[in-house]
Parts: sequence; structure tokens; C-alpha cells
Amino acid sequence: MTAIGTDITIGNCRLILGDAMALMPGLEGVDHLISDPPYEQSLHDAKNSATRALRTDGGAELSGLDFAGIDEIRADFTDRAAQICRGWFIVFCTPEGCGRWADVINPSPMKYKRACIWVKPDSTPQLNGQGPAAGAECFVTAWAGRGYAKWNAGGKRGVYTHLTNPPDRHGGHPTEKPWRLMRDLLLDFTQPGQTVLDPFMGSGTTLVAAALTGRRAIGIELNPAYFDIARHRVRKAVAQAHALGVQASAQVQEAFL
Ligand SMILES: C[S@@+](CC[C@H](N)C(=O)[O-])C[C@H]1O[C@@H](n2cnc3c(N)ncnc32)[C@H](O)[C@@H]1O
Repeated sequence: MTAIGTDITIGNCRLILGDAMALMPGLEGVDHLISDPPYEQSLHDAKNSATRALRTDGGAELSGLDFAGIDEIRADFTDRAAQICRGWFIVFCTPEGCGRWADVINPSPMKYKRACIWVKPDSTPQLNGQGPAAGAECFVTAWAGRGYAKWNAGGKRGVYTHLTNPPDRHGGHPTEKPWRLMRDLLLDFTQPGQTVLDPFMGSGTTLVAAALTGRRAIGIELNPAYFDIARHRVRKAVAQAHALGVQASAQVQEAFL
């Protein structure tokens, strides 16, 4: 198994195996921090108590969460992010978590902008029928840069619709984000050649999207098994970007992943 402290570079992506809270202060500044951190502990508890086989299409099954929720480290993490981020600070969370993120961002030097929505058309129904199922996740956006916030999408609404379980989901991580969702975020919020930090990299989806869109990325992950999946996925994405060129259309990229 890969050893803690491993630090490798594949193409334009750097992957570090270790604790983000310890490593972030040692990083040089990054253009943006875009991440899918652990969720609120309440959701971890709910997911872990309800884990069961749900897919009927033969795709990779969802499993429980083997890492702690964000609650204990949310404020310290936000402080560390504000020290090194020069542009967008974007973190995924439950709808209930948006206010909690705003509460730690507002006292920081970053400017809280808005909560956006990821609509999941294939989300799991509320199987006990005792209330509505969750149909979306959120991500909060804050600007850590100087002057006005800048993005590439004009007046577009902050609503993104992508399947949670597309046929090409890797399936090695219980909360794998769709790579198309992360690609769209990078295209809207960042510029080619900029560096994006994902301190909770998991199976590396942000870095896969970075490789495919010509961004640089740094990913940190605590769990060696997820780090190894990320390494494998990033290597494949970097090879694909090398073969096709990062200017290849999204449709062409999809055909090869
Ligand atoms: C929500 S998951 C990210 C999943 C990722 N977006 C993907 O597509 O695979 C959060 C990840 O953060 C990792 N993690 C939790 N605490 C960490 C820490 N202190 N430093 C680095 N990684 C951590 C967990 O092991 C988990 O893989």
C-alpha cells in the first residue's frame, strides 16, 4: 500500500497522500480551491445506517462512508484555505450545510457569494416513503481574490444537472462526483493553466477534470486506497488529454473515458 507522504506528479497534476489540515499551510498559493470535503456528520450517520444494495443496472454500488464528517474541522479548514487561495473557494455540502459554511466564511477574509445546486435526476428515492427524497446537493462559492469576483459564464444560473451514477462512474469511492460536473465547474470558474487545489481529493475526480480541461491541479487524500484509485484515474486522464489535446470537445472526451 502507498506510504503516507507520497507526493507524485502526473502531467499537470500533483497528488499527495496525507492530512490536508497539516499539509495546506506548507503549500504555495493556489488560484482556486474546489473540493468535495466530507459532508455534515448527520449525513454520514444517515448514509452509514442506510447502506444497502440499490442499483439494478449492474453499475458500481454505493457503499458507506469510511471517513469523519467536516463539522469538527470546518472553521480551521476555512482559515487555512483563506491563507492560500487567490480566487474561488468552492465546497460541496448538503443543503443544510450551506448556512454552516456561510457562518465560517463570513468572518474570514473571503467574500461569501452564493450557494449553487447540483441537481441529481437519478438520486435514490425515499425508500421508506416517510418524506421527500434528496434530489440535489449544494456547493457554496466564495471569492478569495482581490477586486470583483470573475467567472466565465456571464449571467448563467448556478444550477448544474448531472447523473450521480452514469455508466462510466468508476465506483471505487462512495461519494465519487461525476467528472462532467467537475469539468463544468472548472470551465465556468477557472482559466486554462491555473492551479486548482482539491484538499479532499478522494478518487481524484477534480484532478481528472483538470487534466481534461488544461488546468493544473493539486490533490490531497488521507486514505491510501482512494489515493491509489486517484493515481490510476489521473494517469488515464492525462494520457487521454495528451492523445487528444485539451481542446477536444466534451463529446470527444466522453467517447474516450
Ligand atoms: C467526499 S470525499 C471526496 C470524493 C471525491 N470528490 C471523488 O470524486 O472521489 C472526501 C475525501 O476526503 C478524505 N479526507 C477526509 N479527511 C481528510 C484530511 N484531513 N486530509 C485529506 N483527505 C481527507 C476522505 O478520505 C475522502 O476520500
